[in-house]
Amino acid sequence: DDEGDRVSRPPVVTIMGHVDHGKTSLLDAIRHANVVAGEAGGITQHIGAYQVEQNGQKITFIDTPGHAAFTAMRARGAQATDIAILVVAADDSVMPQTIESINHAKAAGVPIIVAINKVDKPTADPQKVRTQLLQHEVFVESMGGEVLDVEVSAKTGKNLDKLLEAILLQAEILDLKANPNRTAEGTVIEAQLDRGRGSVATVLVQNGTLKPGQIIVAGDVWGRVRALVNDKSEHVKEAPPAMPVEVLGLSGTPQAGDKFAVVENEGRAREISEYRQRLARDKAAARHSG
Ligand code: GTP
Ligand code: NA
Ligand code: MG
Repeated sequence: DDEGDRVSRPPVVTIMGHVDHGKTSLLDAIRHANVVAGEAGGITQHIGAYQVEQNGQKITFIDTPGHAAFTAMRARGAQATDIAILVVAADDSVMPQTIESINHAKAAGVPIIVAINKVDKPTADPQKVRTQLLQHEVFVESMGGEVLDVEVSAKTGKNLDKLLEAILLQAEILDLKANPNRTAEGTVIEAQLDRGRGSVATVLVQNGTLKPGQIIVAGDVWGRVRALVNDKSEHVKEAPPAMPVEVLGLSGTPQAGDKFAVVENEGRAREISEYRQRLARDKAAARHSG
């Protein structure tokens, strides 16, 4: 219906890999930020979403936790994305959640780019990473395969520009498009109840443009968008395709992974959310009655 209105959009890139292999550090280095310092025990426990600009081109990043407990978050991260960055620490090589991440990316059908991290360490062995990846059917370019691989260091900043170039190259091949002129829809990345702000849902707009004042349904909750807040805590007037944004004003907290969409009026929003709540209640009742 809207084929003619589709224009290029930024790639959505999910960072995956084993715990402590340096996913958040890499993103911090790319963004010139310091998220790791604020994490309890240095362990990522939620999904973070950020947008950066390289040579005038935007890239949306989704950070995921590497800890074994967060399988569902990794799976969801792989589903909302165009490209998966597999971070493997060169001193630790391929580990259980590295393999799990490969499987999530393959299941979601998204191309992988390998970032061999921590190459600044004296014990780094990037070649071992490449040969171990071969055993899991990830054939990197430098060994004659098709998967782009880049040796990086979040600590020294080595080759971060090359990693961004590899992402933009892959994105070009994928020829990603969306229509900014239609009603917005997308996916909930995470949501929580904030003491001061009420329900805060981080969403990724996947098509259309989301604006304050619009009415959305997300999973089985709804609301009029009171404000949109970007990854720099700034209020914004609109969120175009591939932009991660916090939505304030929902009646409750949707589930991570829920789809959201703009609807025409409050009555319609209430109708859809009540229908979904009833479905969920019926399902739960059916489970209890065995
Ligand atoms: P989870 O999200 O908990 O899975 O961890 P993560 O993959 O985000 O790793 P994180 O960024 O928390 O980094 C783990 C540790 O590795 C920290 O102590 C970082 O300082 C260190 N680190 C990350 N990248 C590098 C690197 O390139 N070189 C060196 N030497 N240390 C690094
Ligand atoms: Na960590
Ligand atoms: Mg992390």
